[in-house]
Amino acid sequence: MTATSAVSVRGLTKTYPGVRALDGVDLDVLPGEVHVLLGENGAGKSTLVKMLSGAVQPDSGSIAIDGHPVVLATPHAAQHAGISTVHQELSLVPDLTVAQNLFLGQELVHSGTPFLDEDAMNRRASELLAALGLQLNPNLPVRRLSLAVRQVVEIVRALSRLPRVLILDEPTSSLSEQETSELFTRVRQITAEGVGVIYISHRLEELEQIADRVTVMRDGRIVSHGLPASTPLPELVRLMVGREVGEEFPPRRTTHGDALLKVRNITIPGSVDDVSFDVHAGEVLGIFGLVGAGRTELLRGLFGLDRASGTIELEGHRLDGGTPARSLARGLALVPEDRHAWGLVLPMNIQQNISLSALDQCTSGGVLRRSRVAALGGRFMAAMSIKAPSGTTAVGTLSGGNQQKVVIARTLAAGSRVLLLDEPTRGVDIGAKIEIYELVAALASEGKAVVVVSSELPEVVGLSDRILVMRQGHISAEFSSASVSPEALLNAALTHEKGAA
Ligand SMILES: Nc1ncnc2c1ncn2[C@@H]1O[C@H](COP(=O)(O)OP(=O)(O)OP(=O)(O)O)[C@@H](O)[C@H]1O
Ligand SMILES: [Mg+2]
Repeated sequence: MTATSAVSVRGLTKTYPGVRALDGVDLDVLPGEVHVLLGENGAGKSTLVKMLSGAVQPDSGSIAIDGHPVVLATPHAAQHAGISTVHQELSLVPDLTVAQNLFLGQELVHSGTPFLDEDAMNRRASELLAALGLQLNPNLPVRRLSLAVRQVVEIVRALSRLPRVLILDEPTSSLSEQETSELFTRVRQITAEGVGVIYISHRLEELEQIADRVTVMRDGRIVSHGLPASTPLPELVRLMVGREVGEEFPPRRTTHGDALLKVRNITIPGSVDDVSFDVHAGEVLGIFGLVGAGRTELLRGLFGLDRASGTIELEGHRLDGGTPARSLARGLALVPEDRHAWGLVLPMNIQQNISLSALDQCTSGGVLRRSRVAALGGRFMAAMSIKAPSGTTAVGTLSGGNQQKVVIARTLAAGSRVLLLDEPTRGVDIGAKIEIYELVAALASEGKAVVVVSSELPEVVGLSDRILVMRQGHISAEFSSASVSPEALLNAALTHEKGAA
């Protein structure tokens, strides 16, 4: 290699109980390149990132920055060495303001004094946010922000540290296309200044926009290093998954049963505006829309997480004004968008998490039977290829995508008749995506009703029987997915202002 690598890794190895997370990994990232890391859920991507950011120590191996060996014993040491990281799990402090988060550990003070200069930090924060297209009051506590906005703030923070190496671990998982393209523009500006970027994403369509070279990992090893970005996608997928993966969606269902869920005039001030629809037994109903259209808020309102006016009827029982516990008891379940907000109990193991909403299936004579918990957990671990040493592994140690699979498994295991899935394939690899599609189809065939919110156009079209489009809180169109065109869907999702532009 002619140029000195911005970061160079040799023989990195890390073993956890029962898992070799990294096995002799070598990687070179050149100054000014965007180096994409691909790999299935649990392949070891985030483990590598954590070592480069000083959060986890390798068992063996070495790291060099600009040709100089470094020991990254702490996150602070990594920052000092010029490595700035956006982790897969967001790390902002919810009770601090946006500005406080941005300057955490490097606060601005009135010159010559130890006193914080709040005005200067707020001003600078606004500038930094604006550079990524975000008009946001820097005085807001992070707790009040949506997942997407938090993700942008996190990215802004990493960029503001003027890194030598920038690491982005699934930075766009919650971002809209617009926000993603603004991020890519910023990434290109900093690579032009010679910064090396490591970029991780399961959104394979992003590759052609952002990648210079691609490295593929599988089971803790590098299977192919520094491939050109022009490498055909099917080839990359085959390297990732170790087999051919078809892009087939399961066949659609053409006949449906009775309406299981009837939703009338649901309104949530500021986000959902007079929404009504039915979902039938055996039907998959897709809800498409841009980020901010009110889809997540609608599902949360239906499930009883947020207050909503209007009526919700499930098989003749009124659910409106209820709580999540009552919804679950009546047969309505939700896979939330943000699995960490309330999706998982991290110290508990996989089987226990999966059976949390299905305890009635796991008791006999009023006693919880461990064997039933194990059997139920085992069934879903297999069906969804959850990668872990065993069913008694704590979910907190799983990779991000495998945690997402556990959230989905738990909801499915509850045996609910109506399922609300909010971005169910976010953060899961392409092989697991197809398994989730098959599960959804199987549930519909069993006579359940499934509502899927997705921002991915091919997914909504491929998975649904019928599609509702939301725009600015209301339903702007309805399509049968057998006959819809992507253009028609997008048009219905765009706001009038943008549509006219
Ligand atoms: N603290 C830990 N304790 C035990 N096992 C761990 C720990 N951290 C990671 N692992 C295991 O190491 C392996 C690699 O995980 P890693 O998070 O690096 O995967 P990943 O490639 O980032 O996957 P994803 O695409 O799902 O984010 C997984 O099998 C995971 O369960
Ligand atoms: Mg990861």
